[in-house]
Amino acid sequence: MNIVIGLREMSGIADRLRSEGKRIALVPTMGALHEGHASLIRLARGNADVVVTSLFVNPAQFAPGEDFSRYPRNLTGDTELAQKAGSDMLFTPSAGEMYPGDFRTYVGVDELSTLLEGKFRPTHFRGVATVVAKLFHCVKPHIAVFGQKDAQQVVILRKMVQDLNFDIQIVVAPIVREPDGLAMSSRNVYLTPAERRDSTVLHRSLQSAVQQIGAGERNPSAILQTMTRVISGVRSTAIDYISIADPVTLRERTSLTAGDEVLISLAVRIGSTRLIDNCLITVPQ
Ligand code: PAJ
Repeated sequence: MNIVIGLREMSGIADRLRSEGKRIALVPTMGALHEGHASLIRLARGNADVVVTSLFVNPAQFAPGEDFSRYPRNLTGDTELAQKAGSDMLFTPSAGEMYPGDFRTYVGVDELSTLLEGKFRPTHFRGVATVVAKLFHCVKPHIAVFGQKDAQQVVILRKMVQDLNFDIQIVVAPIVREPDGLAMSSRNVYLTPAERRDSTVLHRSLQSAVQQIGAGERNPSAILQTMTRVISGVRSTAIDYISIADPVTLRERTSLTAGDEVLISLAVRIGSTRLIDNCLITVPQ
């Protein structure tokens, strides 16, 4: 597996591949790879000639006091998993080269970055948009693959690609879950065994929402109330938000109509670990 660290080197490789007519796919990650990341790499593999997986724990998307310094890092395991899933190259830039001391330019996606996660992590998405824009410039991909696990991230990056005229196709992969429903996440390793058992409540609350909508409930507040009750039944939990929103504008829905697509999303702290999950559904007739 080819591991590239330098930004100029990556850019030169991308130019050469493009001049040979090769289609490049980029899978941006922060490492500590799991089956969710592997599914993105496999999807990229099926849609491109060369798959580049980037591994970069991006300081710009962590606020002071968040888990940047203890975020799990495992280059050996990541290399093996990425290779098995079909990645041709790992791009592992250094923080020093990505953000030199005189770095001053950030990408901000207005409004969308202030809702949902943005209320609790006000600088998070400018960090995400900035690093993804930089990765796009270095790797010059034709397509980039992201996971539905981070639904708001997808909405914001689609908007950035549209607004800043990146000629890149965004492909979105479904959420990969553990057998008991917990969405896979690099942060799941923070959970104690008891918290790990409690953590299935996120998925259960989403299922309760889907079930209610299936049974004809059309009032978002009634659905949110039930979800809150399901989650509050587990003592280690603290809800940051639960939302039923439009999947493009991320504005809260006040009613539901058959045929509407809605994004049901939530962030819940279990002990000191913050987990997010979501589900995108079409309201049935
Ligand atoms: P990270 O959390 O490492 O996730 C990398 C990609 O994997 C994201 O697109 C994320 O949505 C996807 N992913 C994570 N868990 C998943 C799961 N259970 N099922 C499907 N996809 C999953 O997201 C980031 O890194 C960063 O913000 C990044 C985009 C790399 C910018 O720094």
